[in-house]
Amino acid sequence: MSKSLEVIAGVGLADRQRKSRWPARMDFLQSASGLALGLFMWGHMLFVASILVSNDFMWRITKLFEGYYFFGKSYPGLVSAIVAIVFALFIGHAFLAMRKFPASYRQYRTFLGHRTLMAHTDTTLWWVQVVTGFLLFFLGSAHLYQMLMHPGDIGPYGSGDRVWSGHWWPLYLVLLFCVELHGGVGLYRLAVKWDWFGGDDPDGTRRRLSALKWGITAFLLVLGLATLAAYMKIGYEHRDRVGEEYVPTWLQKDGQQRGAQ
Ligand code: HEM
Repeated sequence: MSKSLEVIAGVGLADRQRKSRWPARMDFLQSASGLALGLFMWGHMLFVASILVSNDFMWRITKLFEGYYFFGKSYPGLVSAIVAIVFALFIGHAFLAMRKFPASYRQYRTFLGHRTLMAHTDTTLWWVQVVTGFLLFFLGSAHLYQMLMHPGDIGPYGSGDRVWSGHWWPLYLVLLFCVELHGGVGLYRLAVKWDWFGGDDPDGTRRRLSALKWGITAFLLVLGLATLAAYMKIGYEHRDRVGEEYVPTWLQKDGQQRGAQ
């Protein structure tokens, strides 16, 4: 009788001879998927920022991902395939991270108590991770679904039109801050958690890592804001010709010459 009561209450389960390895595996998978997404985002911000070089350069980057330089023809489906992989990683990472969220008001109050008691930046940063991660569920999913379904609408005009005439810029503005804070803090916490750069002076290393993290976050925020402003400007100037495809400068000249002949 008492045995069944213990099982019902869960007492004794933790004393099983062989404890589950799954919590550790899930922790590792959460770190690995976070690392992959963080590194992907660095590449993503640089590719998207190609618009700051020129419209033609951004067009070339778009065509590169569509396989134009390999197959002599554009296949936007290739972009969808990349988005599908990133989306799966994104959902998997969110699923694994969710288990760390406070699950009740009581747990939330306990965390607040710990945060006040410790008054340590890293504990506060953990909460930044939770809040930005929660917002990313929604903002990131909206963006990824759009990219998955409309991979052919990426380009100087396609993106500019979406950002301005499609009213995506408010979402991008919030998404940008969430993703840069979340990614920056996430990569920093990974380095501390797995002791990648520990050395003889762990406190000093942590301070240097923290400075590096803020430096990278500030750089990516400035780059992201400049990039967003560039797409908004292109979209604004192109607002009367929404849907028109971008033709790179050298092809425009070819067309004019042919027209003149
Ligand atoms: C393979 C997946 C992805 C592709 C192909 C992609 C593509 C793009 C493109 C083309 C833009 C320019 C605006 C537009 O065309 O609408 C953009 C902007 C942006 N994307 Fe992504 N994206 C991907 C994944 C993500 C993820 C996972 C996040 C974060 C959760 C993200 C966050 C952003 C942000 C914040 C902007 C605004 C950029 C800025 O202000 O500089 N993207 N993305």
